Parts: sequence; structure tokens; C-alpha cells
Amino acid sequence: MTSDRTDAIENLLREDRTFEPSEEFVANANLSDASIYERAATEEGFRAFWTEEGNGLDWIEPWTDLYEWTAPYAKWFIGGKLNVSVNCLDRHVAAGLGERVAYFWEGEPGETRTITYADLLDEVCQLTNALRDLGVKKGDRIAIYMPMIPELPVAMLACARIGAPHSVVFGGFSADALADRIDDAQCTVVITADGGYRKGATVPLKKAADEAIGRTASVQHCVVVQRTGDEVAWDDARDHWYHELIKDQPRIADPEPMDSEDLLYLLYTSGTTAKPKGIMHTTGGYLAGVATTHRTIFDLKPETDVYWCMADIGWVTGHSYIVYGPLANATTGVIYEGAIDFPEKDRWAKVAAKYRATILYTAPTAIRALMKYGADAFADDDLSSLRLLGSVGEPINPEAWAWYWKEIGGGRCPVVDTWWQTETGMIMITPLPGITTLKPGSATFPFPGVVADVVDEAGFSVPLGGGGYLVLERPWPAMLRGIYGDPERYESTYWSRYPGRYFPGDGCKRDDEGYYWLLGRVDDVMNVSGHRISTTEVESALVSHPSVAEAAVVGRSDPITGQAIFCYVILRSGFDASDALGAELRGHVADMIGKFARPKQILFTPDLPKTRSGKIMRRLLRDIAEQRDLGDVTTLADSGVVNAIRDQSGSGED
Ligand code: PRX
Repeated sequence: MTSDRTDAIENLLREDRTFEPSEEFVANANLSDASIYERAATEEGFRAFWTEEGNGLDWIEPWTDLYEWTAPYAKWFIGGKLNVSVNCLDRHVAAGLGERVAYFWEGEPGETRTITYADLLDEVCQLTNALRDLGVKKGDRIAIYMPMIPELPVAMLACARIGAPHSVVFGGFSADALADRIDDAQCTVVITADGGYRKGATVPLKKAADEAIGRTASVQHCVVVQRTGDEVAWDDARDHWYHELIKDQPRIADPEPMDSEDLLYLLYTSGTTAKPKGIMHTTGGYLAGVATTHRTIFDLKPETDVYWCMADIGWVTGHSYIVYGPLANATTGVIYEGAIDFPEKDRWAKVAAKYRATILYTAPTAIRALMKYGADAFADDDLSSLRLLGSVGEPINPEAWAWYWKEIGGGRCPVVDTWWQTETGMIMITPLPGITTLKPGSATFPFPGVVADVVDEAGFSVPLGGGGYLVLERPWPAMLRGIYGDPERYESTYWSRYPGRYFPGDGCKRDDEGYYWLLGRVDDVMNVSGHRISTTEVESALVSHPSVAEAAVVGRSDPITGQAIFCYVILRSGFDASDALGAELRGHVADMIGKFARPKQILFTPDLPKTRSGKIMRRLLRDIAEQRDLGDVTTLADSGVVNAIRDQSGSGED
């Protein structure tokens, strides 16, 4: 960045600088009347709002009651029957939109595919028939482990058509992580690919899937998309090529009428223990929630917009805002397979320019990475089609916000910073771009009808100007319905700290004007590049290595990835600390969980600071990792430990 650009950003960050929607934006906005907030705040208005949204979907049988709330269990659109794939595909084709592009797809090596709604419906029906021929029926769980190729949304939609809940496992997860997830849900089929492309190399997904299936007992079939052409091992009794399976299948397949509360999918996310949680999302409420928020928050105009969400479909952002919300709204979207900075730093800008993207939705970590390259890296790319920008996954620092607004948005695009979670299914705290005056770094206000509060330890509301814990007080249609197979964990994780209120695990402050400023996790969950990783998951990966006696893991602030994984390791006797062992341990964690969870740094230490009751003092370890003032350490079992830790040499990437 040149110095006068830095000055310009500084200027945008003046304390009093706020960003009102432009007159032109307001004039064309899907929502521009601020009274929506007041109306949706009353029970009657809330019901009217979601009744209208529910009526926007196609129902096989109408619902009788809007919702029922017996805390902590909600039901939405009670008694209604519908099929999600019909709402995402058939009804658009029936309305004459068959030739509209559903996805412009671009592979990392550069090939492209343009897929219309009619194409997508055809292929979904073919795969539906193929899966039914393999014996898949309503209620069976299907694991999907794929790169960002069109067959991934096809697979999800085919599952939805059959009523077989999918469990998409991000392609960056290891064989072990995949095996755990297959096992927990007892999946009977795995849909994968020979591999995918990432930064010019291929990622051997089928190999990892084979290993995972070998460690589990439930899988009967493995369907494999040919993507890279790399050679793969083959089990004739179990494996099927996707293209062979679908080629002679009819392009028509009956959709299963699903109850509004039938399971649509499971998506595993990290909690505070080593075992991930299978978050349950159901059918009617989820679809209404994601379609509504997608249309209003991104101000979507399906006839003219080209919407590009840069997330991976393997995370909730991709489920809700690449697949279900956008398709329900008949959106034209972009799916790009690879790294946004490969082979050139401006690959993302070339993709955006080529498809004339109008809406871009990405994560602060990506924005900061692009910021590091500088705006000159994409000076030759025409981004004039952009009209709205979104951010998700972690708090966006005001500098990154201002840079995004100015350098990518050209100073004309509202930035919507959207706070939500795998569990909430839909965006919960967010600006409405035609209404909200923006402040860089704030997710602004709860979506209309969402009732949030910031409370202290005891659960009392903290007055404006103060900080505490975020809670949500009223059910919402896309909320999780539970943790698969573990209702007790559902109740204790989210509903026990403040009975009757949902506790997301995030800190938050509100300024004097009531703007929400999310502060990050308050539990033992790290957020690395917008990905949730549990400290205990990394610790158990470390102690599974023969050299490790004990490990403590914390998230340390990182200028690009938000947090980075910092590990304290006590070695077993007979093992010596070395850079080579540090590298091996980092690789071991990557093998056990996935490359995205590779620790940034390992610090070998003779001991760990613990309270007298034996609990590891993570706050202190975080402070050491960030080299903060250590404060009072007298509660340590051995206060000499801290100094010993600080003096140790570590092994890390930096
Ligand atoms: O800490 C919050 C952070 O990401 C967590 C949810 O992670 P996950 O379930 O993986 O979903 C990520 C994509 C929705 C939250 O508990 N988070 C997400 N969005 C924001 C955020 N923190 C601050 N601001 C955001 N906009």
C-alpha cells in the first residue's frame, strides 16, 4: 500500500466516521423502511414477518402453526410438508427460469462450467435415482467429502430430494476426522472425488475416504467423482464412479415430501471437548431462514445480481449462503474451486471481473491477506460491477473493514459484517444495507425479530456502553434443533449457562448507540482463518504422539488468520526438544485433524501452569503466547513454571 492510500484509510477510520447508505442504494433496496425492526419486535409482528416468508416457499402440505417453543426445543411451520430441492430447483424451472444460470463454476486450473437451473435439476434427479438404486432412502445419513466442484451442491440437493440427511465434511479434514464424523452419524454412503485442486497440487480425497471407511463399519457404498484423473485404489464391491452411475438415469425423480421438522443435514463443528458436535438442521424453518436473510441482507436482485460467496461449501457459510439460501432465491452464483491467490495474487479479482460479480461475501482473514498484497495487485482488474460486500467468520478489524470498503468496494458498496454460527444456521446480527448506518468493525444490530442481549456473569443485562456475553432470547426459524445423538450436550452447551436463553459462546460489547461489537469466543474454541478449532481437539491430537506427555493449546492473536494455534508441549522422558520434533508434531496435528489445524508454534516446556485443583491456566498461557504482562501468578502450583516456560526455545513457523 502506498502512503497516501494509508492516509485515506486513516481518514475513513476517524472515530466519528459512519457510513450511511447512499440515496441511490436506498431507492433500490429490498428493505429500506427501518420500521421493520419495531414491527418484528412484537410477537404479532414477528409472526406476521415469518408467516409471509414461509408463504414464499412451495409447500406440498401447508403448515398449521408458525412455531412452537418449549425451551430449548423449537418447531417451525408445524405440520407443513415440503421438499428443499423442489424449492431450490423445480419451482424455478416451472416458473420459466430453467435457462437462468444457477452457478458459474471455475476450476483452479481454469476450466469452466455454466450450469443453468434446468441443468442442475436434471443432474440432481439423475443422482437421486442413482442413490435410490444403491438403496438410499429417507432418513439414511450420507457423508459428502468433496472439493468445490458442481457435483458437491448436486450431491447435497440429491440427498435433500430423497430426504437422506447429508453430513458434508470439509475437504481439508483428515481421514481420521472424516472417520469420526462418518461413525458418529453411521453414514451408509460416502460421496467423494478422486481429488481436488489446491494451489496447483491435487488433494487425494479418495485416498483419505478409503482410510476413513476402513476405520468405520457403516459404509456400504462410495460414489466417486472423477475430478483430477489421478489413479485411485478401487473396491469393486463398494466403489462406483459418479459419471457411470448417473449416465443412464432418467432426468426426473420424485421428491420425498418432508415434514418441516425432518432432518435436512448434519454439520459437525468443534466444541470445547475433543469430540465434534453434529449440529442438526431441519427443513422448513432452515430454508425460510436462509432464503429470507440472503435476500434481505445481500439485497439480492435475482434477475441481475451475480453473487459470489468465497467460502467453502464444507462450512456452514457455504451450506446456507452458497447452496440453500441462494438457490431458494433463484440466484446466479459463482463457485470457484481453488485458492483465491493462485496462480496470481489477483486470481479472485480476475474471477470477480470475468463473471461481473455484483456481490462478494468473504472472511476477514481473506481480506487481510489481500490487504497484505496491496491494492496494486488487482489494479488492472475491473471490479466496477461490485455493489455490495459481506464479511463473516470472525470479528473484522476496522482497518480491514475500511480497506475492503475503499479498495475492493471502490467506496460505493455497503459492507455487511454478518455475525452467526453453524448453530444459528442463518445470519443473526448484521446491517441491512438499505437501512443501517455502518460503523467499521461492528456487525451493527440483530436482524429484525432476533432478540439479543449482552449480559454479565450472573445474566443481568449490561447497559449500553458495556461488554459481556452475547445471548439470544427468542427462537428463530433456522436454529439448530439439537446435537445428533446427544440431547444432554445440546442442553448443557447452549442452554444451561443462562436457562431459557441461547448462549453462543461469544463476547460482545454495545456502544452508546446500541451497536453490537463482537469480541470473539469466550470458551476454549479458537478461530483460525474463520475456522472453529477446539483447543482440546488439538491437545488430544498432540498427546496421541508417542513423544508427548502433556499438551496445552491456546489461540494467539495473528495479524492475518485472526488467531494462530500455539502449543505448549511436555515431552516424555527419552525425547529431546528439537526443531525437527516440533515440525513432526505440527505435521502430526495436521494429519490427525486437517491441514488447516496445523499449529503455528510449538513451545517445549518442562511443566505447565496449573491451579491448585490441577486445571491448566489457559489465560496465562495465552498471555505468555502473546507476551502480555503476566499479572498475578501466585495461584500456580509452581510459580517458577511461568519463567521456565518463557525461557524455553520453541519451534514454529515464524
Ligand atoms: O465467534 C463467532 C465467529 O465465528 C463463530 C462461529 O463459527 P462457525 O460456526 O464456524 O461459523 C462461521 C460462519 C458463520 C462465532 O461464534 N464469528 C462469525 N461471524 C462473525 C464472528 N465473530 C465476529 N463477527 C462476525 N461477523
